[in-house]
Amino acid sequence: MKVAIMGYGTIGSGVAKVLDTNKDIITERLGESLDIKYILDLRDFPGDPHESCFVKDYKAIADDKEVKIVVETMGGVEPAFTFVKAMLEAGKSVTTSNKALVADKGAELMQIAEAHNTNFVFEAAVGGGIPIIRTITACLTGDVIEEIDAICNGTTNYMLTNMEQFGSDYDEILAEAQSLGYAEKDPTADVEGHDSCRKIAILTSLISGKNVDFNDIPTEGISKISSTDFKYAKAMGYSIKLIARSIKCGNTYSCRVAPYLVKPEQMLYHVSGVMNAVAVRGNMLGESMYYGAGAGALPTASAVVGDMVFLARNTERAVKIGWADEKLTLANPSEQKFKYFVRTSALQSNIENEFGEVEYSTLDLDEEVGFITEEMTESEFNERKTALGGIISVIRFF
Ligand code: HSE
Repeated sequence: MKVAIMGYGTIGSGVAKVLDTNKDIITERLGESLDIKYILDLRDFPGDPHESCFVKDYKAIADDKEVKIVVETMGGVEPAFTFVKAMLEAGKSVTTSNKALVADKGAELMQIAEAHNTNFVFEAAVGGGIPIIRTITACLTGDVIEEIDAICNGTTNYMLTNMEQFGSDYDEILAEAQSLGYAEKDPTADVEGHDSCRKIAILTSLISGKNVDFNDIPTEGISKISSTDFKYAKAMGYSIKLIARSIKCGNTYSCRVAPYLVKPEQMLYHVSGVMNAVAVRGNMLGESMYYGAGAGALPTASAVVGDMVFLARNTERAVKIGWADEKLTLANPSEQKFKYFVRTSALQSNIENEFGEVEYSTLDLDEEVGFITEEMTESEFNERKTALGGIISVIRFF
């Protein structure tokens, strides 16, 4: 079966490597081989083993009836959307690792695929090498999913782990994550939580069956987390993790992406480095957690190739996964309840005026104090926080 790869960066070249390295076993499992006919990229790759496959115009692929499966590993919404749409309209199946594309255009692309009796799949878009999408869309279809809590950004988990364990400097460790191929081209998407936000939006669309707009999910990243925050966390026996959450709330879900204080009794505490974990609670299943390499060329490419085999087994047969175009109105995030850890320069008497009896966590630092609030809603906390003033940082307890 002839296949094409659009975008020969970290993931796209990883896909070629997986197909080359495991050619025999893939052929044996599928009953036919997956042969790369085209690679779309504007750059030249002299000396590459697939040098003869490179094209610069996506129409060369769209117009070739022999190509049945197309991989999109370009990243970003455009021109990826235009290219993927053209491939589906030409009757080809598509797999993508591009969460920005899936979060923004997933429902629409799935409808186009269905109309052309083909498939649009995206296992690699969430959790890198962890097979979480097929787990949700196939294995757990007998459950109502009540909660998902995910460490789903390898870059930030790698950075937080290094900051915690070695007191690493933020910029230095970000550069290292980029050199290891974990971070996005623009690291803002990773460090500000946008990448995790898109991933939890995709997962929430899949568990709700409706379309979640990622813009509706309150999102904070790790760029404000400092080594002092880790010192407080350590003194309290906690770690800090960037977690994307989605909790069933009546007929909808309540979502948030933020750094949380996590204690050792909680499974996500133990997820370190570039590893990702997605904890899923089903109403019949109970607790489960899926753990693995969340970023990097080969783990992500492995998921893409798994999708290619799925697509090859389902040519000219649209497989429904239940993600409608209808928008899901998420629960009001200001009604979510948390306990908060607050660092402030305010006087203790003012803290007690606003928050009553609180538990203090001190590091004997001049000019600041840390305290833990009772559980309260976001809106109540924000009112009290504004009244108190002198806020240095706030981290929610998980
Ligand atoms: N930049 C992403 C991460 C890549 O670090 O998790 C995988 O989606």
